[in-house]
Amino acid sequence: MPDLIERSADILARATSAVALTGAGISVESGIPPFRGKGGLWEKMDPMKVAHIDAFLEDPEGVWNLLIKDMKTVLDKARPNSGHTVLADLERLGILKTVITQNVDGLHQMAGNSDVIEFHGNFAWQRCLDCNRSIETSRVDLAQIPPRCRCGGILRPDCVFFGEMIPHEALIRSQKLSAACDVMLVIGTSAMVQPAATMPFIAKDNGAVIIEINPEPTPLTSRISNLPLLGNACSIMPRLAAAIRQRMPLPDNR
Ligand code: OAD
Repeated sequence: MPDLIERSADILARATSAVALTGAGISVESGIPPFRGKGGLWEKMDPMKVAHIDAFLEDPEGVWNLLIKDMKTVLDKARPNSGHTVLADLERLGILKTVITQNVDGLHQMAGNSDVIEFHGNFAWQRCLDCNRSIETSRVDLAQIPPRCRCGGILRPDCVFFGEMIPHEALIRSQKLSAACDVMLVIGTSAMVQPAATMPFIAKDNGAVIIEINPEPTPLTSRISNLPLLGNACSIMPRLAAAIRQRMPLPDNR
């Protein structure tokens, strides 16, 4: 493992257009549970019953009560961890160009990354099903479930439910950046959900080195990851940053 970290640091220190693909795992150590695996949300509930757009439209009250209300409580409290802050450092150093995230928690922006593609939308905003007006989630009154817009329409999170399209611009930019990057850092994703999971394949097909950080093997690990770093984001990312720091100065802001 130390050798894999050193080799990853060598490659990242020379990179100029790295892209990160992140998933729920990078936010686990910020107190946000993942979807799959140990302690995952989908162990406790069926995503087709709580995270599919048809389920939401059929029973918005039920989905707000079962999933969205708790998500708001958890996300309100969450703050970036060292996995997020190292990615922000890598951007400041000119190594990392963009973060493509499947997360809706806004923690990459909070950590300081300036180009974040929110592949599955953002929980910071709610949208009215009737008039399409947007309202910040922090301003939503949860006294009434489902919460309503001032026009009386039901509010939904501005996130991608199962059964919905990925925002067009997010998909096209992600495909282009994946094809053009020199390194892809894949952090904390089970790589089970399409089309996000195709990005590492696009990167690899176009010559990028794939560095994967995850405590568990994924479908990418034996197939395309050049450097699988087995471990939690908050354990691996600071070690990676320290190894890069030996090769170039990093802003010391942690
Ligand atoms: P998953 O919950 O499917 O996978 C989380 C991954 O993070 C797993 O591979 C874990 O092994 C890993 N992991 C756990 N703890 C970690 C840690 N401390 N550091 C690093 N990795 C850790 O999450 P995603 O791959 O993001 O979609 O799931 C993709 C999509 O499925 C989500 O965006 C969501 C979900 O259904 C929608 O809601 C549309």
